[in-house]
Amino acid sequence: LTRKSKIPRKIKIREIAPKNKFDNICKYFSFLETLNYGTDIDAERLIDILKTTNHIRIHLDENCIVGWATSYYKANPNANKASFIGDEKSKVKIIGEIRKPEVFKDYIYPYTKPTNEKFRYLMDKLNDFIQKKDLGAFYTDPLYAEKSLELVREAIKRVPEGNDYVIIDRCAGTGNLELKMSKTELSHVIVSTVEYYEYKVLLETLGDKVRHIIPPTEAEDTFYNGQVRGADALSEDYIKSPIIKQYIDNPKYTIILFENPPYAETTSIEHQKRKAGKKSSLLWKSSFAMQKMREEVNGIALNDLGNVFIWTAFKYYLRQPTDSYIVYSPVKYWKAQHLVNKEFLKGFAFNRKFFHVNTEATIMVALWNNEDNNKIEELDIDGFDIIDSKTSYCKTLPIKRIYHQYSDFFFDKRNFDNDINQGIVCGLNGSEYMANHTFKPLFNDNILGYISVYSSGFDNPDTKASLLVAGRYDGHGFYLRKDNYLEKLPMFAASRYITYNRQWTERGRIMKSADGAERYFHDLKVGKLDAWLLKCLLFTVFEPQNHMRSFTGSDGRKYRNELCLDITNGSTIASDTLKDMVKNESEEKMMLLWKKILKEAKKTSEYNGDLTYGLYQIKVELNTTYKNELDETKYNYPDLNGDIKSLAEYVKTYYNSEIVPVLFKYEFLK
Ligand SMILES: C[S@@+](CC[C@H](N)C(=O)[O-])C[C@H]1O[C@@H](n2cnc3c(N)ncnc32)[C@H](O)[C@@H]1O
Repeated sequence: LTRKSKIPRKIKIREIAPKNKFDNICKYFSFLETLNYGTDIDAERLIDILKTTNHIRIHLDENCIVGWATSYYKANPNANKASFIGDEKSKVKIIGEIRKPEVFKDYIYPYTKPTNEKFRYLMDKLNDFIQKKDLGAFYTDPLYAEKSLELVREAIKRVPEGNDYVIIDRCAGTGNLELKMSKTELSHVIVSTVEYYEYKVLLETLGDKVRHIIPPTEAEDTFYNGQVRGADALSEDYIKSPIIKQYIDNPKYTIILFENPPYAETTSIEHQKRKAGKKSSLLWKSSFAMQKMREEVNGIALNDLGNVFIWTAFKYYLRQPTDSYIVYSPVKYWKAQHLVNKEFLKGFAFNRKFFHVNTEATIMVALWNNEDNNKIEELDIDGFDIIDSKTSYCKTLPIKRIYHQYSDFFFDKRNFDNDINQGIVCGLNGSEYMANHTFKPLFNDNILGYISVYSSGFDNPDTKASLLVAGRYDGHGFYLRKDNYLEKLPMFAASRYITYNRQWTERGRIMKSADGAERYFHDLKVGKLDAWLLKCLLFTVFEPQNHMRSFTGSDGRKYRNELCLDITNGSTIASDTLKDMVKNESEEKMMLLWKKILKEAKKTSEYNGDLTYGLYQIKVELNTTYKNELDETKYNYPDLNGDIKSLAEYVKTYYNSEIVPVLFKYEFLK
């Protein structure tokens, strides 16, 4: 424990370095106490020290400020960014916690630098909860920003002889995209950003280098509820702002828009999670730009803040064929939502992980030319990861447009005369759902379950795809009937793609489609897919997201999992269908493991001989755990658990080698 100690949270006791390095380190610190925790006495003393709440204050820097911000907003859920990082140099005199600590007065020294420039790369992470939701600020890694300048330079090359040009970034944040531009390039740039503390940094770093910053200087009334008056790119004032309009209205200027628009989707899980807490103002939903967009666009494209930027770019800024838009965004605006139907010139795929988010996914930066083209079916873009602080080419990634959803062709929308309008519904965990719901369940002997597969993308894959023994409480799918369930299973299989292919190049790029429906139905009819459909069934039987369970419902009916291979109480539909399947080596191995699993399952004290168990039901009802004295989770039946794990490995390999290629062939995955 040295004089540089921070507040001890969870500290792991371990050897910190080999002896010689340790001696070197020792030179730099004066020790308050030296402990040899190889001895019991000293080890106990160490634990006592760790339990104390004595601490010394620390100086804030880039490495710890985000942690302090998170703790600050947690402790003060109504606090805003100004109250955390406010500085004296602004026209608005809000002195923030970091400059005059109160909540953390025992932990941090006041930050004495006059501006927040040092935290420019972290300004998005210092936003309060509401801003995080409304501003969708995810900063671009400087290496990616630099790489995308190649596209800006391509756009500059297209400026016709005799024209000048401007590069506009309406949502510049603290100016990452502009940082590596040359002096000449910067002299063509117009930047703005709506968040006040970003604007302050922008002004300080780029204010005197760019052609315009909006607003050009900070006035007494610039600060407005944490925002910059006049800089909301979605407002009417901004769109009609004379500073930009003078170029738009002048044909001698070529317009290049270069932006990473904010990313906030109202249907995203992050958004939903926060809904329960403080209400977001969601100003963009009622903005001028959004109102105008609603007049021309409908559907899910309207749920995404980034799309409003994209739409307005073409609507209000680009006018000549040689104008360009270089935009960062997940690809769905082009791929699934068809928001842009323009000539594509070039683009790159980047790893979303390097935009201050946790998920790995594909972000495309595309150079669009302002000429109509709705015929493009595929974009091929080079993928770049960041490895060892360098952009590193990995492969060329095709992005294919999708035109149809599963529900257009594959959902079974038949009603049967003998359908009974009553029954139970299930929750996502496969058990009966007892809470209120609006879904109207059906019962029929020809029903074996209910499948939900919705949304073309792979956000929240476990919610947006399910297989249950009865109707799902919130619908989103259709009943699987005994006469055609097999041909429906590829949709379930496709919906598992992202779980088995977690690379950043897949999420956000690959989606579900029904574009191959005609070929699929043709080949189905002529029997070409018979063998493969059995493989899909085998996969479904062993896939743990198949949440079909056997139980007695509150309606007194016995619901039985028919898509499993437990034949203790007689054959199931799956076992009957698979009995004549000619199995290859990996299929035989999976079958053997399954038999072992069932055998182990039957030995557990939780086993109920009246039920027909699928893998999932065994996992959640029989493969039970307990906590040992060290609070570690241990399995009551390690053999059973080990076999379940091994099967999962086999299933993954099997899925990627036997199922996935055909899913792509028929464009269930595209
Ligand atoms: C994805 S970040 C990109 C920031 C920066 N260009 C970069 O690439 O690192 C989007 C930025 O848009 C800003 N923003 C959000 N809504 C805005 C609006 N209505 N008008 C202007 N800027 C906005 C956010 O504050 C955020 O800085």
